[in-house]
Amino acid sequence: MICYEVLPWLTTAIAVCYGIYLTYKTSSCCDRKDKVNRQIDLDNSKVVHSFDIEDLDEKAVFCRCWKSTKFPYCDGSHNKHNESTGDNVGPLIIQKK
Ligand code: FES
Repeated sequence: MICYEVLPWLTTAIAVCYGIYLTYKTSSCCDRKDKVNRQIDLDNSKVVHSFDIEDLDEKAVFCRCWKSTKFPYCDGSHNKHNESTGDNVGPLIIQKK
């Protein structure tokens, strides 16, 4: 049997606990809104690619938005990202003279 005098306090306590839960949940590593990489090699602690400049073609276009399905190469996904977020990211283009 619940005493009705305690009900407002119990409701407040539940609301505070839920607020703390939401704060903790959104700041955990996987749900952080400021996380850049959300799809590429997520099992690795760091995503690193290395290329020998001599092995590149005359022109290489690398993704810097982390949205490309051909990462580390750009596939144009930055255009959709920029349209939906207002961001202005684009690829890194390396050309041999
Ligand atoms: Fe990421 Fe083009 S797809 S910069």
